Amino acid sequence: MTSTLAGTVSIVTGAASGIGRATALALAAEGAAVALVDRDGAALDTVAAVIGAQAHAITCDLADLAAVPGIVAQALERFGRVDHLVNCAGITGTAGTVLAVDLDSWDEVYAVNLKAPLLLMQHVANHMVARGGGGRIVNVSSSSAFRARLSQIAYGSSKAALVQLTRSAAAELGPHDINVNAVAPGLTKSAITARLGDDDALTALVTGDGTLANLLGRVSEPEDVAAVIVFLCAPASRQITGQTIHTSAGAVV
Ligand SMILES: NC(=O)c1ccc[n+]([C@@H]2O[C@H](COP(=O)([O-])OP(=O)(O)OC[C@H]3O[C@@H](n4cnc5c(N)ncnc54)[C@H](O)[C@@H]3O)[C@@H](O)[C@H]2O)c1
Repeated sequence: MTSTLAGTVSIVTGAASGIGRATALALAAEGAAVALVDRDGAALDTVAAVIGAQAHAITCDLADLAAVPGIVAQALERFGRVDHLVNCAGITGTAGTVLAVDLDSWDEVYAVNLKAPLLLMQHVANHMVARGGGGRIVNVSSSSAFRARLSQIAYGSSKAALVQLTRSAAAELGPHDINVNAVAPGLTKSAITARLGDDDALTALVTGDGTLANLLGRVSEPEDVAAVIVFLCAPASRQITGQTIHTSAGAVV
């Protein structure tokens, strides 16, 4: 086991599944203690059990924004500090199109994909500033923030807003030595994409000429995205801030 992140503490949302789960495991493998956040308590406990003593599971629904201060407080109570925040939990919703938008779904997508990340950044960054600065924040956006797709208006626009929020936060928090970056995955195997079909169906989507196509003709594994997130939490990326790293195999070029 390597230990680039030994002695550090991470909060990872959406840690019960997919990219968040892979990120939590990868951060722990680098030596970080990890506060795992998700609404799926049973799956979260399974991930915590795989990681062991350096994991702390926090089951909560991020659509309930009042829960956010308690997440950071629990992580601090358990581990004493927070060095990395990874805002990974996200939903696509069913908001539909401009001509037939469901505003209730729109509001839920924006709560989970944008407002919860904002409030988590606020509470974590206040802690980082209070202890003298230093820290990393990584927001999980999407290639959908950069490409037009039918029926994705709430999801795509919330992820685009998250990119700009990342830039604004990087400008505000840079003087406190807090790096804020985003990753923009393309089609990645997870619970979200399982509903699109099996591996062959997903490969057909990235090798065609549709809006999910990418230059390498490969579907991403959650670990492909997790590796970039870990890099953005590691000392080697200390001069990178305000950026969105596309992990989509060239879906957006
Ligand atoms: N899979 C892809 O192709 C893809 C592409 C681009 C971006 N993304 C983004 O990556 C992130 C992770 O998605 P994934 O593909 O791993 O999907 P996933 O469904 O496997 O994981 C998402 C996790 O977030 C949790 N979550 C959702 N809403 C929540 C809430 N209200 N409160 C607490 N937890 C909640 C879910 O329980 C789940 O464990 C999301 O932000 C998603 O938008 C995914």
